[in-house]
Amino acid sequence: MAFFRRTRTLLPTAIRARDSQSSIRPYLLSRHFGSASNDSIVRATLFPGDGIGPEIADSVKQVFKAVGVPIEWEEHHVGTSVDPRTSSFVTYDSMESVRKNGIGLKGPMTTPIGKGHKSLNLTLRKELGLYANVRPCLSIPGYKTRYDNVNLVTIRENTEGEYSGLEHQVVKGVVESLKIITRQASLRVADYAFHYAKTNGRQRVSAIHKANIMKKTDGLFLQCCREVAEKYPDIVYEEVIIDNCCMMLVKNPSLFDVLVMPNLYGDIISDLCAGLIGGLGLTPSCNIGDNGLALAEAVHGTAPDIAGKNKANPTALLLSSVMMLRHLGMGEKADRIHKAIMKTIEEGKFLTGDLGGKASTSDYTKAVCENL
Ligand SMILES: NC(=O)c1ccc[n+]([C@@H]2O[C@H](COP(=O)([O-])OP(=O)(O)OC[C@H]3O[C@@H](n4cnc5c(N)ncnc54)[C@H](O)[C@@H]3O)[C@@H](O)[C@H]2O)c1
Repeated sequence: MAFFRRTRTLLPTAIRARDSQSSIRPYLLSRHFGSASNDSIVRATLFPGDGIGPEIADSVKQVFKAVGVPIEWEEHHVGTSVDPRTSSFVTYDSMESVRKNGIGLKGPMTTPIGKGHKSLNLTLRKELGLYANVRPCLSIPGYKTRYDNVNLVTIRENTEGEYSGLEHQVVKGVVESLKIITRQASLRVADYAFHYAKTNGRQRVSAIHKANIMKKTDGLFLQCCREVAEKYPDIVYEEVIIDNCCMMLVKNPSLFDVLVMPNLYGDIISDLCAGLIGGLGLTPSCNIGDNGLALAEAVHGTAPDIAGKNKANPTALLLSSVMMLRHLGMGEKADRIHKAIMKTIEEGKFLTGDLGGKASTSDYTKAVCENL
């Protein structure tokens, strides 16, 4: 790997050993509302979203019904006007529903263009304290891409960085955008990344940065990652500069395991990784908030070009719902759905247009249900 400009921080064993007992925090653990043996009903918030959202959300409902997932959906839709309590089209009641239930699934939402309101996705992240976006990127057997061996997870800081929304004009022709990095948010996401690695049997955490240029902001982010790394002596910690990371990812994604990064880098790298396994239509994600709150979401947009045509691929939202079930401790049901999706794609008889097939959303959903 001599061609990689790669920094590896190996921490002294003495420091590593010091704090290894304090690594598990309750808010980082999955919430076990139910289990395979205890099928008590769980209430979860569902945002079908716009565009193809309702069609793919319907697919999730059908598959859950076929498996007998004990979930009762509390459905919420984006408002038609700005709710003054959220300054956004996402209503206060929707927000309260997720807070109360602690668990939810979200389809894509159109970002309305114009002034006077916040982006829907940013509102949800900020209001619900969804500090980490977790995206597993795994090669899908039977769906051929350039690589067969992608198996990595990106963990993106979700609340600050370049997305602080602090932009202004200094003088005409000169504008400023503020990138905010705080110790609290950086420690929180780093903690989650290491905890995730440990509890999911992963061996390496790579912090992605540009601290050679943004010495203070990315420097602080790295400092926090290093502090957390000291508590996880069994996990290899390394630091990789963002540009080099992109090159390494497209040359050999198997070099990575868990990647943790500030907001904007996470936005870009997670889409790059989705491209490695076949695109956004196949990539699930889950946002983690305080007190075990989780909002799983498909990362693609509303696909207005195919909305209402029964052409959307529901895989990303289905796999996101699988992440949601794992978070709820419903591992057996999650595994069944996951296997059925993989089998359906591997068989290749009912692929949607984005995967080179001709099947409709309903055909694909029916095939998944039959493969359960
Ligand atoms: N998380 C979110 O809610 C989210 C994310 C991205 C974009 N958006 C919003 O979505 C709208 C459209 O955005 P865009 O066009 O840039 O991106 P997009 O993801 O909606 O579409 C890009 C392309 O991918 C295709 N595509 C996306 N998801 C697909 C699926 N599940 N099955 C088959 N094909 C799929 C679309 O048909 C389109 O050709 C915008 O209003 C944007 O703000 C929302």
